[in-house]
Order: sequence, then C-alpha cells, then structure tokens
Amino acid sequence: METEATPNKRFQFHDMDVAVHRNTFARDVAIGLTAPQKWLPPKYFYDQRGSQIYEQICALPEYYLYRAELEILSTYAAEIHAEIGHLALVEFGSGYARKTRYLLAAYEWAGQPFRYCPVDISREILWDTANRLVQEYTHIEISAMHTDFAGEPEVIQAFQLEKKAVAFFGSSLGNFTPEESVEFLRRTAAILGPEDVFLLGIDLKKSPAILVPAYDDAQGVTAAFNQNVLHRINYELGGQFDPQTFEHVALYNAERGRIEMHLRSRLPQHVPIAKIEQAISFRKDETIHTESSYKYTANEVRDLGHRANLVLRRTWFDARRYFLVALFQSH
Ligand code: AVI
Repeated sequence: METEATPNKRFQFHDMDVAVHRNTFARDVAIGLTAPQKWLPPKYFYDQRGSQIYEQICALPEYYLYRAELEILSTYAAEIHAEIGHLALVEFGSGYARKTRYLLAAYEWAGQPFRYCPVDISREILWDTANRLVQEYTHIEISAMHTDFAGEPEVIQAFQLEKKAVAFFGSSLGNFTPEESVEFLRRTAAILGPEDVFLLGIDLKKSPAILVPAYDDAQGVTAAFNQNVLHRINYELGGQFDPQTFEHVALYNAERGRIEMHLRSRLPQHVPIAKIEQAISFRKDETIHTESSYKYTANEVRDLGHRANLVLRRTWFDARRYFLVALFQSH
C-alpha cells in the first residue's frame, strides 16, 4: 500500500497495488466460470461504468433500498451522532457518500474537528468524493483507503484510530452469504475497542412483489449493471463476450431468503478469454450466478450480530419498515 500526494492537507489517500487486483480478477473469473454452476463475485460489478450504473439504480422507482436508508439517515442523523459520540467514522464501501453526508453534516454541526475514513474498491469515486467533502466541510479530516476490504476488515487498523465508529451501509452485507457475514462481522468486532461502535444498514425481508422489481426494473438499468461485468471481462481480461447474448434474470429464493441475479445464455456458445488462456462453453439457458442479495428480519440481524460477538444497542427504521440501521457494540 502506498500513500499518495493530495491537493489538500486535510486529505490523505492510501492506495493498494492495482496489479495485484488485476491478477485476482483473472483468477476469480477462471475459478467462477469453470465451476458446475458458473458464478462471479459481485464486487466486479464496480468498475467506473458499473459504479455509475449503480448510481442510476439508486434513483430507480423500484429500488426502494437507497431511499429507505436515506430516509433513516436524514431523519435520525443528529440522534445517531448523539448516540455514537464524536468518534472517527470509518465507512466500508463509502462510494459517493451520498447518504453518509447526513451523518457528516451532524458531525460538522458539532463545530469540532472530526475524522472520516472512507474505504472503497472504486479508486476514482473514492478520490473524487474525498476531494469534494474536504472542500465542503471545514471541520473534516479525511483518510481515504482504496482497497477490497471485503475479505479483510482488518485493513482499517492502518488508520491507527484510538476510538472509532465503523459503518457498513447500503445493505452491502447482504451480498455476503450469512456465513461470510458472520465471519466479516466477527473479524470487525475483533478490532473494535470497548467504546467503539458498528453501524449496519441492511435491507429487510418483505414481499417478493416488492423485492423482485427492485432487481428487475422496467427500464433495464439493473440488466445493464449485470451485463457490465461481461464488458469488464472483455476489456480487462481480453474476453470476447457479446453481453446482449446474456439475458438478465432476477428471482427471489425464499428458502435462502435472497434475491439472486443471473446472466442466462440465450444460445450455446464458446467465449475465449485471453488472460485466462481458456474458452468458456455455455449451453443454451445456462446461467452465471452473478449476485445474491440476502434479506433479513430485524431479529435475524440481531442474531447475526450475536454470532459475531456484537450486541445490538439501537435500531432505526424507515416509516414503511423496509430497511434497518442497527447500532452494535462489541461484547
Ligand atoms: C450494493 N448492493 C447492496 C446492491 C444490492 O441491492 O444487493 C447491489 C445491487 N444489485 C442489483 N441492484 C443493486
């Protein structure tokens, strides 16, 4: 990891080795596309184009998740700030920090210096967002980190914070399996001090009539988001996918409590991918499982925390109780 020069002394930027990332992408594609049920890790949706499409998803009428969490953070920002105290705020998967801004505004309103440590997989968005925030807020000091934090929440120890609030918003935990979630939370809990807290924003179980359209919108924006991973394989790994030959599929798997997204091949085909030195064969209707988005009840969220040595301290809901922001502390 290297620390880069920035235009503002209240803004530090730490970057991971990009070459490592590219090799990891090739390896994950080779593993996923040669498995009996083909799959790809959802983190590869988020190149610059994918992140922009995700922003469009958040504005869709069907994708209630973004607005529900925004409602909670905008309504309760002052209350949340009062509850957690003026701790340094570390955010996993910060993106454009659109919702977090409400919390940052509550910190700013307190009139005292505070530290914001956004951690994100998209370098450009992280850089631009941090750069903008440092100009907008006079009391903010930013330490940004570009990395894939998902397998390793311990990366945030590099910030060397004495006390901290760690936030994971956007229901991104839902993109891990429940087992992976417990593991991620357990490792996060292990790096929390006695006065540290963990804030989790997570989508709640509800009718498939509401859930499915959120992942299969009328305008086809989510379909473009899903297909973008094939574009990315093309330009980063020398793939020869024709993304239009893969249909977007979203379904609710009630037994597992998750939305599944797939890309279904419309025809039998062989797709060469130069960087992995293989051609991948698809039968007609064969799918690549590209994402799972787990949904929980409030009690299941408490239980996830419990299994990870986290105690649920407070909860905030939107008016329709579609979404939950939960505040945990370690045992
Ligand atoms: C980032 N993540 C929580 C989103 C979700 O709802 O699972 C990603 C997404 N996939 C399709 N639409 C949005």
